Amino acid sequence: MLQQLLPADIRGLDADATDSRIRAARTALGSKLVILGHHYQRDEIIKWADFRGDSLKLSQIAGNHPEASYIVFCGVHFMAESADILTNSDQAVILPNMTAGCSMADMANIDQVEACWSWLSTVTDTSRIVPITYVNSTAALKAFVGKHGGASCTSSNARNIVSWALERGDKLLFFPDQHLGRNTAADLGLDPAKDMALWDPAKADGGLTADQVRDSRVLLWKGHCSVHARFSVDQIEKARRDYPGIHVIVHPECSLEVVRAADSAGSTEHILKKISDAPAGTSWAVGTEVNLVSRLAHEMPEKTIFCLDPVVCPCSTMYRIHPHYLLWILEGLVEGEVRNQVSVPTEVAAEAKLALERMLAIS
Ligand code: 13P
Ligand code: SF4
Repeated sequence: MLQQLLPADIRGLDADATDSRIRAARTALGSKLVILGHHYQRDEIIKWADFRGDSLKLSQIAGNHPEASYIVFCGVHFMAESADILTNSDQAVILPNMTAGCSMADMANIDQVEACWSWLSTVTDTSRIVPITYVNSTAALKAFVGKHGGASCTSSNARNIVSWALERGDKLLFFPDQHLGRNTAADLGLDPAKDMALWDPAKADGGLTADQVRDSRVLLWKGHCSVHARFSVDQIEKARRDYPGIHVIVHPECSLEVVRAADSAGSTEHILKKISDAPAGTSWAVGTEVNLVSRLAHEMPEKTIFCLDPVVCPCSTMYRIHPHYLLWILEGLVEGEVRNQVSVPTEVAAEAKLALERMLAIS
């Protein structure tokens, strides 16, 4: 993912000048342009978004705007790939900064997944395993899942997708986020100690024995989100001591212990809706990325809202979408130059689309 250095005249702009040039370019592009903003984007970016949302909502919106020639995705690389797969071939999906990746998505690559599958085939019947990939994964992994009869999922629909997979097969292989997989399967009544096993791609044979594979219903990939790994049960206990009656809400990328200690867990859109719907005067300790939490606190001053982690935790890759990059992209489009197009190769896109469409049908 190469990102060229921005021109010096853009790098030197202050916030007001940047904003007025973004505004002018946006107006010039009119309905040819749709800007999507994930909830973790900084305020200086989210204010330009035509639509804000979680991963599921934004991929649905991307697929529902065939009139837009350019979809500028203010989020991270896997989201732009999904949007490219779900849009028409005459539409360009653009990521303002090509270095905006996701460290969790990088924890499983196609060679590792193929190697895992091949080893599993020596100890069990892989035609009875349904692979599920969290959307936080490369298009190549979605294609693998599409080819093997599985589906993608997001944190909004993981429950439905995992139930679907459990009905279809004897086991499921869930990558790359062990926590979303474990939390979802536990929520459906499976026992983390008895029914689940952890595949570690850094170990020979994933660190598992043939018996462990045969005895498990859910094989979890050893991946995680470093932002959500920061939240702890101690933080929740402290929030409850400091603010009696507080509601604790966390993202399901947090560990099982944290999700169990919280009052509820759900996607970024779920967190937003739950807090927005709550009455004035309520207090909320939130276990997710700080840009979203700070925005909620700012937009709802009649409620007490704060991040569970006192050493706030921005997603450093989401943060790479700076207004200067957005300006550079939009002015390029005005001049007829498409920069930073995310384009999934056709063969990969066809199979990945199966995984995404199955997900959207089940959601
Ligand atoms: P959502 O689908 O809940 O927006 O989550 C995306 C993500 O990357 C969370 O870390
Ligand atoms: Fe990836 Fe975590 Fe950032 Fe979400 S918060 S994009 S999972 S690194």
